[in-house]
Amino acid sequence: MSLKDFFIALSENQTLNSAAQKYGFKLGAQSVVAGTNIDEVIESIKHLNAQGISCTVDNLGEFVFEKSAALAAKNQISAVIERIHSENLDAHISLKPSQLGLDIDFEFCYENLREIVALANKYQIFVNFDMENYARLHPSFELLEKIHVDYDNVGTVIQAYFFESGENVERFKDYRLRIVKGAYKEDESVAYQNKADIDRKFIEQIEYHLLHGKFTSIATHDHNVINHVKQFVDKHNIPNDKFEFQMLYGFRKEMQLGLAKEGYNFCTYVPFGNDWYGYFMRRLAERPQNLTLVTKQVFTK
Ligand code: FDA
Repeated sequence: MSLKDFFIALSENQTLNSAAQKYGFKLGAQSVVAGTNIDEVIESIKHLNAQGISCTVDNLGEFVFEKSAALAAKNQISAVIERIHSENLDAHISLKPSQLGLDIDFEFCYENLREIVALANKYQIFVNFDMENYARLHPSFELLEKIHVDYDNVGTVIQAYFFESGENVERFKDYRLRIVKGAYKEDESVAYQNKADIDRKFIEQIEYHLLHGKFTSIATHDHNVINHVKQFVDKHNIPNDKFEFQMLYGFRKEMQLGLAKEGYNFCTYVPFGNDWYGYFMRRLAERPQNLTLVTKQVFTK
């Protein structure tokens, strides 16, 4: 088993997830998760906004199989929207359909999402549907299209590693899209496994949406991709207000600030909440070097 597969398997382990919540916010998670409650995340957003960086806020939550948990997530996300509005922050919402009940019941999830999007729409706040594993891809797209009929403040993520990512970016070209490489362990019958193939598809989907789409969020820590995009937008005269770069909270902080200072729109993905375990394990799977974050935390205690 590779180190990547090992951390992905850990991210999917519900027992460890519960234990992590119980035993606290340790093991380096606080380097990449902006606190466990709303007050803490609001402080982080203010700090980033002051540096010219906008934010997308993710109230972490996984393994939601009970309606009460999905309703609690809806209330929490709604409270974040109210705070973004009342404190006039430069921020929007990222959420996962499974957190709002996708694995429980499609209609129930739809009602929850619709309520969140309607509230955000009242304040002109954008809501992004993060994309999870392949099994949830098409149901999530359906939810998005159903809600988009009445609200245009919604968009989603295109995961370039799927064979079908080209069709997906075309299907959603009229939406604001975040393009990523893809973070989950997927079967070779549906997704590229090889880094060179994934990188090639990633560039392809970014270029397509920059040329044909509404607004593109290029979400990556890969400097090669970022440099390529800078040249591509120059060559095609794509204005700065048609795209932004996104990175995760706590990663390549100097580069995040540098891009904002260069005059590019930059948005940091800011996760918070008690349910940080799965998110943190996926970050370790992507880049085992992030383990240095863990050892640093442990040894500076
Ligand atoms: P990758 O990990 O392939 O790294 C490429 C190269 O960049 C490395 O070889 C290294 O040289 C350099 N590099 C990368 N990280 C570095 C670091 N920390 N320090 C120094 N150098 C570094 N996925 C998903 O499936 N659904 C989703 O909804 C989202 N949403 C999302 C939002 C945002 C804002 C981001 C940034 C990412 C996601 N992802 C995601 C995750 C995404 O799919 C992907 O798994 C990770 O971003 C890792 O891929 P990268 O493109 O960052 O480069």
